[in-house]
Amino acid sequence: MSSLENVIAAETRLSEVDGLNGRLVICGHSLDALAGQKSFEAVLALLLPDVLSTSEEAVRAELAQARLRAFREVARLDTDLVSLSVTEALRALMARLPDGEDKSVALLQIAAPAVFVPALIRERAGQKPIPPHTGRSHAADMLAMLTGNQPVEEQIRALDIYLVTVSDHGLNASTFTARVVASTRAGYASAVLAALGALKGPLHGGAPGPVLDMLDAVATPDNATAWLAGEISRGERLMGFGHRIYRVRDPRADALKTALNRLGAAGGMDIDRLALAEAVERAALAALRAAKPDRVLETNVEFFTALLLEALGFPRDAFTGVFAAGRVGGWIAHAHEQIETGRLIRPQSVYVGPKAA
Ligand code: ACO
Repeated sequence: MSSLENVIAAETRLSEVDGLNGRLVICGHSLDALAGQKSFEAVLALLLPDVLSTSEEAVRAELAQARLRAFREVARLDTDLVSLSVTEALRALMARLPDGEDKSVALLQIAAPAVFVPALIRERAGQKPIPPHTGRSHAADMLAMLTGNQPVEEQIRALDIYLVTVSDHGLNASTFTARVVASTRAGYASAVLAALGALKGPLHGGAPGPVLDMLDAVATPDNATAWLAGEISRGERLMGFGHRIYRVRDPRADALKTALNRLGAAGGMDIDRLALAEAVERAALAALRAAKPDRVLETNVEFFTALLLEALGFPRDAFTGVFAAGRVGGWIAHAHEQIETGRLIRPQSVYVGPKAA
């Protein structure tokens, strides 16, 4: 009860997470029909037809303009902010953006993480932030702002698939947070800021950084079984495995694995790293099956997120921020949907404290 498990807290037209069959549907399209088939901008048009434009091209142009607006905030970066982790600095920067419930606020919120994350990574590395370019797609521009170079097609495709794959996922912790805040009519910026806080936790969007820590600690495929057994015997959770809703494999893990394999085939991924990850995945699934035979614990989205974002050149402390760059579409769409209901979210609690004298 304390985790609201199985409680229905909203009706949504945005996404359906079918945990028994391992299927994710976003606005009537299964993930298979979206990842690698439709761009992030096209998915935003599906998620937010009443707020943004309804065509991919128009959303692409609107989002590009919003990236330019977000970049103005980068000029105000100071050393205190840059010394924070990328995720915490992103939260601080997002807090400076204007609030409200109109289209321009929504667009700026959706654009900003893709601009702030690369700028923060570069500043922390002592490099000058690269301004956005309106001629590029959102994914291509995010990569160009990270490296200063024109990304190759397979890299753009991989990041675009990632942004689409994580764009929305039912009433997960951060999306629920966004809906609660939006229901108070605080505005999109407040809803996104609160959601960002929820996303940061390792049980939600903060897992991919620790996935790489795990791969580093395992170091060689031969070591995987013994290392993972040690973690499980100490009662540790294996990052990138298990899910509250999925009782089978997370379909997002497969979408990202396919993208990773393509990136590997195009030379954009260290093949030894991929082999290590596959050995760790196999050993982890075997160890989890042995430790929890009554509960299906499968690979979740975060495992392959870690490898994909690493291969694209993002440092691990920025992974949650890149996740936010995709999920922000879902947050704003849910915030909008909640505002449309006109109802404040206000559940009740059962008092179990001492009786009043
Ligand atoms: N490693 C080891 N044991 C696990 C794991 C794991 N990754 N996941 C669950 N378990 C164990 C639990 O400790 C629990 O054991 P117990 O019954 O002895 O207490 C049992 O399996 C059942 O757990 P659930 O109730 O299914 O787990 P819950 O729904 O509470 O948690 C969660 C889901 C938080 C995702 C969990 O699986 C976990 O901590 N995974 C690791 C972190 C992670 O990968 N997070 C990203 C999730 S995806 C996302 O949010 C984008």
